[in-house]
Amino acid sequence: MRIHFLFPRACSYLTKPRMRHASNRCRSFHCTVPIRSVELTKVRYPNLKRGPFSILGDADVQFFERLLSGAGRVLADASEIEGYNTDWLKTCRGSSELVLRPKTTEEVSAILNYCNTRRLAVVPQGGNTGLVGGSVPVFDEVVVSTQLLNKIISLDELSGTLVCQSGCVLGYMEEYIADYNLTIPLDLGAKGSCHIGGNIATNAGGVRLLRYGSLHGSILGLEAVLPNGEILDCMSTLRKDNTGYDLKQLFIGSEGTLGIVTAASVLCPQKPSAVSVAFLGCESFARVLDIYKEAKGMLAEILSAYEFLDEASVAVNKENLRMASPIGDFPFYILIETSGSNGDHDEEKLNTFLETMMSSGLVLDGTVVTETSKIKDIWSLRERVAEGLLHDGYCYKYDVSLPQAKFYDLVVDMRERLGTSVIRVVGYGHVGDGNLHLNMTSPTYSPEVMSDIEPFVYDWVSKYNGSISAEHGLGFKKRNFIYHSKSKSAVSLMQQLKRSIDPNGIMNPYKVLPEE
Ligand code: FAD
Ligand code: MLT
Ligand code: ZN
Repeated sequence: MRIHFLFPRACSYLTKPRMRHASNRCRSFHCTVPIRSVELTKVRYPNLKRGPFSILGDADVQFFERLLSGAGRVLADASEIEGYNTDWLKTCRGSSELVLRPKTTEEVSAILNYCNTRRLAVVPQGGNTGLVGGSVPVFDEVVVSTQLLNKIISLDELSGTLVCQSGCVLGYMEEYIADYNLTIPLDLGAKGSCHIGGNIATNAGGVRLLRYGSLHGSILGLEAVLPNGEILDCMSTLRKDNTGYDLKQLFIGSEGTLGIVTAASVLCPQKPSAVSVAFLGCESFARVLDIYKEAKGMLAEILSAYEFLDEASVAVNKENLRMASPIGDFPFYILIETSGSNGDHDEEKLNTFLETMMSSGLVLDGTVVTETSKIKDIWSLRERVAEGLLHDGYCYKYDVSLPQAKFYDLVVDMRERLGTSVIRVVGYGHVGDGNLHLNMTSPTYSPEVMSDIEPFVYDWVSKYNGSISAEHGLGFKKRNFIYHSKSKSAVSLMQQLKRSIDPNGIMNPYKVLPEE
């Protein structure tokens, strides 16, 4: 039993020079699967019928070219738009012939007004890191990308309210406000590419939800363009505002089916000045939960993340990304992050916690880091599993909420069920939020494997009153399983709302709501 304490006396987190002029472009993830080999969605799902939408014509393209003047704002060249047609997982590929890149809310409004009148279907797209096929066309929908809606509008340093356009990249926003000793209440592995508008549209959870709660609390206001082009102004910057229905909430998690979010105000907390990350090994998932209980009690207010990975997830890092684990081999690994304002106090608390865990035998081995670069390395072990899985070929991705005690049984059952028909079955996720990420891989897409997984996985989750989508949304892939987590009356009201806001159904068709 050993634990490596790597606390430098002066925490380099505080002294690292910041990137003041970072561009609003970030690292994108590369997958080994070439885009053209991804089967078209309309081919993979032959029973799905195209909706009663118009076909894009030359006059439409000319209208958009007049509206969006300047190079790179109307993309119609097949090689330029193939990336916009294909999702991050390389599992869905649409056949859109047009990508529009507006810069202002008024341009978005004119685009939607035109599309609604012409009955052209539209897919809003942010960073295209979504994991449920929601961000790409199914057939030939026009893609409206928020890439150029990328301006920071204002920052109120006292309240920590950042107002920006919806195409700002999350990682860029984080760098920007670090200069003001603030941080973003949301963090996820895709922060180098995802947009705040996409985060809002999916109600993204990520690794800081345990500390800062969901976007339903951190988004103070937003502006959205409705399908008919009307601009909905819900741009409050107030923390408290109980005047009528809170309409912005409808757009948080609506996955582009009700309109396009064009701007938002985000409540940014104070940036913690002392951050530590511990990476620990233990013998079972029951231990992961025992340690979580102790962490909540002993670390209390400084506990900011509690994540887990199983052995098979760490094997993905090792085999596919050539990453090494900083500790030995264990059946389960835990990543604990503490964030606070007093390094000595937090260090002492974390040390006492770890010593107790080691002497009780709950933790078998571990390492603790406080330097920014080392913190990043440890977080990479957790956050890059999604990327590593893509190197196997095809990834069947599930993201469920379950009572924590039942959490890992699903992985065990799935492993037993699929046997050698898949390369691997891995489980990792946000233990603190009761959110398991279950992933299986095979060299290429296999309908047989798929039929062994679905609906089994959804039935399993439903049996334990879980949610079939904890944080990724329903998108295209999961919409027909909505009844596993929502009542008929709830889905019916959702359908009524959709019809009243988008009577022509042009906004992100074939997504979220089930086929009628
Ligand atoms: P996109 O993928 O472009 O779009 C997602 C959905 O939102 C689509 O339905 C799209 O139509 C809609 N949309 C996008 N922009 C707008 C807009 N402005 N207005 C209206 N609708 C819009 N998710 C988590 O919740 N937690 C995680 O920890 C997490 N980690 C991830 C790690 C990796 C490596 C990857 C690849 C993804 C991860 N995701 C995670 C999923 C994904 O990053 C999030 O769903 C993210 O919020 C999507 O943002 P985006 O800008 O890429 O949106
Ligand atoms: C994560 O937490 O790593 C993301 O949600 C991505 C995934 O589920 O693979
Ligand atoms: Zn996640």
